Amino acid sequence: MDKNFDLIVIGAGPGGYVCAIRAAQLGLKTACVELRKTLGGTCLNVGCIPSKSLLNSSEAYHKAQKEFSNLGIEANDIKLNLSKMMNNKNKSVLTLTKGIEFLFKKNKIIHLKGIGSVSSKNTVTVTDNSGKKNSYKAKNIVISTGSIPTSLPGIKIDEKIIVSSTGALAFEKIPKKLIVIGGGYIGLELSSVWKRLGSDVIVVEFLDHIIPGMDKDISSEFLKILSKQGINFKLNSKVTSVSVVKDKAVVDFTNNKSAKRERIECDKVLVAVGRKSNISEDISKLGVKLDNQKKIQVNKKFETSIKNIYAIGDVIDRGPMLAHKAEDEGIAVAEIIVGQAGHVNYDVIPAVIYTSPEVATIGKTEEQLKKENIKYKVGKFPFLANSRAKVNNETEGFVKVIVDEKTDKVLGASMISTVAGTMIAELAIAMEFGASAEDIARTCHAHPTHSEAVKEAAMAVDKRPIHF
Ligand code: NAI
Repeated sequence: MDKNFDLIVIGAGPGGYVCAIRAAQLGLKTACVELRKTLGGTCLNVGCIPSKSLLNSSEAYHKAQKEFSNLGIEANDIKLNLSKMMNNKNKSVLTLTKGIEFLFKKNKIIHLKGIGSVSSKNTVTVTDNSGKKNSYKAKNIVISTGSIPTSLPGIKIDEKIIVSSTGALAFEKIPKKLIVIGGGYIGLELSSVWKRLGSDVIVVEFLDHIIPGMDKDISSEFLKILSKQGINFKLNSKVTSVSVVKDKAVVDFTNNKSAKRERIECDKVLVAVGRKSNISEDISKLGVKLDNQKKIQVNKKFETSIKNIYAIGDVIDRGPMLAHKAEDEGIAVAEIIVGQAGHVNYDVIPAVIYTSPEVATIGKTEEQLKKENIKYKVGKFPFLANSRAKVNNETEGFVKVIVDEKTDKVLGASMISTVAGTMIAELAIAMEFGASAEDIARTCHAHPTHSEAVKEAAMAVDKRPIHF
């Protein structure tokens, strides 16, 4: 095999594999190094995709048990077969990772199997399973090595009793009691899965609200909805230790306000307190500059401090740690390498929590605008007044649109709805095109759809919603 490439991408997650495909489309001779047996990174193997499979299956189980009878469907004797549910998840993961293999072949991308390290400005060394090293030359290198779960001081993740999301996506038995440390994206999605499947779930969150950074209106409504579903929350609580005693865990935490200490015994503990960039030693040795959070510093062109070495995705110093943000950076960097004008608009990156209902946000929150002294107006519309949501018995949640007070330009939006993750795309397009609330309000939306709530929220900016 010729060992000279125009581009070597390290890491085949959503950032890396998309970058490799776009680069190959643009005519670059491209290779992609991946240490996992299957392509797709955390997202496809142990993140977004398997979690969505379990969210979907557990929701179907919950609905069959609790909601079908309301619709006149008598389904007695509903049983859960957890191993079959897990097999279905594994099958979806395998199909999708194989799909990327196919795309690599189609685009003539060389898949280098093993651990990739940057040994010099233009050299990538790949160490395979047996320890054998091979070096390859590259005109350009893109580092896309993603992120890894963090833990708390003194708490060691064993993936058996104290688990990260990886372990919590593969429990063999339903834990009787599950303690989730962290009320963020991972904590709440996986709390939903295991609560629906029968666990007693307690979320211990350090702050006085869930999902830090999210619009406060949304965060407090979401907390109410999840609490109604039976998930227990201990807010304002700092976990001080987790110990394993036989096959159980003991979690100690202290209330930040009252200093009251509590101890709860449980079967499993999920640690979901964030992720950190996955930086290998070679990067620092080579002199690639990192910020104080150990993320790779890049400029607008995704160039690191070393020319011809680029970085994208969770490892870099900008944007949220989200798969779709990494994908967009992958496309942009490939285009930049061939001299085109690749670009990512960090002001318009949607974020979705795939619980039921889903939560989706984009752009600025009210809290951010207040801090930035920007005058704004808000339009809100509840799903209780949306006909499609009503017939589907999905009336929880609302749409909130935030616009500039003077120009009416959309600055941000958030929503809670069963289909929020899909609907947020309309706001992304609107924001990319610099639309105003008036533009959305005057756009014809099909009836009856959940999307009409977006139009009505836009109309509510000027206090003229029709159905509320
Ligand atoms: P996160 O940053 O979303 O949430 C971590 C939570 O842990 C925060 O609420 C924080 O206040 C809390 N916390 C921190 N220290 C604590 C302590 N000592 N005691 C109690 N609580 C504590 O992180 P998470 O959920 O681990 O997700 C990691 C990354 O993965 C995120 O950046 C997220 O964007 C991404 N992700 C995205 C998903 C999606 O798009 N649907 C799904 C899963 C993950």
